[in-house]
Amino acid sequence: MKITEYITALRENIGKAREQGKTVVLIPTMGYLHYGHLSMAEAARKQDEDHEEIYIVMSIFVNPLQFGPQEDFDKYPRNLGRDSSLAQEAGVDILFVPAIEEMYPERENLTQVSVSGLTNILCGLQRPGHFQGVTTVVAKLFNIVLPDVAYFGQKDYQQFVVIKQMVKDLNIPVKLIAAPTVREADGLAMSSRNSYLEAKERKQAPILYHSLLEGASLIASGEKRPEVVREKIRQKINKETSGKIEYVEILKADNLGPVDTLQGQVVIALAVHFGPTRLIDNILVEV
Ligand code: PAJ
Repeated sequence: MKITEYITALRENIGKAREQGKTVVLIPTMGYLHYGHLSMAEAARKQDEDHEEIYIVMSIFVNPLQFGPQEDFDKYPRNLGRDSSLAQEAGVDILFVPAIEEMYPERENLTQVSVSGLTNILCGLQRPGHFQGVTTVVAKLFNIVLPDVAYFGQKDYQQFVVIKQMVKDLNIPVKLIAAPTVREADGLAMSSRNSYLEAKERKQAPILYHSLLEGASLIASGEKRPEVVREKIRQKINKETSGKIEYVEILKADNLGPVDTLQGQVVIALAVHFGPTRLIDNILVEV
């Protein structure tokens, strides 16, 4: 596996892979890799264990644009040594680890990409500017790498829908793949931010997923009122954890539109704070 900090070197390597007729796959991350990240590389590599047809680019960049002023940009966990051996084991061909100056040489004259409609709900409400930071860096990565395929996790469901909208609106020729959420054995969705949790919080955190599953089984038993399902989830979290709920929402899965009566495919999404640590999770339910 190669590692580079530079766009020029990255493009040279990708160019060679393309000359050999390989499909270029991009997996953007902020690093501190866990199996949620690595599962995407493994999924891409599975069809091509001999490295003959697919060229996997993984980026690791803690993107300052997507962090609010009070957020955890400075303390976001970083460990390139560990990340590079994990990425190599998962079958990544090249790791792109740019410095901030490589990605944003002119911070004061920055062109940004923003998706208007889908970003003023859910996580976008409490994190103004977050999704603009995400779409800007992802658009840049798409232009730098020109991937045929890009993987994003379902764990960040709104992020996936927002990026899908950007790709459609800007006619970006990339195929997006949503990777299923990878969980710890007790159900907690893997996240680099789980490392912030104190022992007591870590014990309680899987209840978020369990509350989503209870919501789903209430729907399966015939409940059609989203507010009843949301209330059930809220009650469980409030009763069984010390977490503070930011939101519990049920929305249309394809476009995050509102749902009056439960029908079709919906996403149940939540954000909960354990002290300074903000966790998100979601599940898709077919009604
Ligand atoms: P990061 O949180 O590092 O996540 C990188 C990718 O891994 C995202 O597509 C995310 O949805 C996916 N992912 C994270 N946890 C996962 C899990 N438990 N199961 C499956 N996939 C998971 O999301 C970002 O970084 C950034 O916003 C980024 C897209 C890189 C732009 O800066």
